[in-house]
Amino acid sequence: MSEEPVLVIAIDGPAASGKSTVAIMLARRLGLALVDSGSMYRAATLLAVERGVQLDDEASLADIARELRESFELELPPDSPVRVSVHGRDISSAIRSPEIGEAVSPVSAVRGVREEMVELQRSLVRKPGAVVEGRDIGTTVFPEAPLKVYLEALQSERARRRYVELTEKGLATTESSVGQEIAMRDEIDSSRESSPLAAARDALRIDTTELTIEDVVKEITSELERRGLRSDV
Ligand code: DC
Repeated sequence: MSEEPVLVIAIDGPAASGKSTVAIMLARRLGLALVDSGSMYRAATLLAVERGVQLDDEASLADIARELRESFELELPPDSPVRVSVHGRDISSAIRSPEIGEAVSPVSAVRGVREEMVELQRSLVRKPGAVVEGRDIGTTVFPEAPLKVYLEALQSERARRRYVELTEKGLATTESSVGQEIAMRDEIDSSRESSPLAAARDALRIDTTELTIEDVVKEITSELERRGLRSDV
């Protein structure tokens, strides 16, 4: 009897393109693990900021990333939001603050940090599989994934979404400062030397500007069926 292969669905795209929400919904619907790689880079950034590590101190940042390989956990409980923890401490909210949003791009541009994070991402994928989301999943982390998706949306729409998300959480901000943060992150994430944000050549590209989350999830599950990867969705 042949063994079922591990199913990896790679989802990449810029900030606020809808990746996280789509990935969570897909992972729940398909009974797969969720690997949110952005939360790992955010966790490394949070620890660096808390410990007063300079954001250009590459060796110390890589040490923090290595530490996360033993201490980072991401849970997707059936009825409650994703829980991210480090050394057992819940950091789910702390990693989403605007301060961490601003500091995360330079940290994630450090080669030594990326090497550790890629190992961590690969180690979290087990049977039956995972939805792995980030910026370089289809190009670098899982270039052999049987389905790669690249989500995009107009920058103005992404800024609007992130603004709504932050204000709903009671985090004071303005739409124009969120727009600036997103534009700055797009620039750093796509121009860095070490695995920049990019669509894999064989990725299914979806522009989410005018789509609902449900529309996007349906498009992905239809593609899974078309490719014979899942027939039960
Ligand atoms: O998806 P997010 O907004 O939580 O990601 C936060 C930052 O982490 C993003 O600005 C760039 C970085 N990141 C990365 O460099 N590579 C990934 N695979 C995922 C995120």
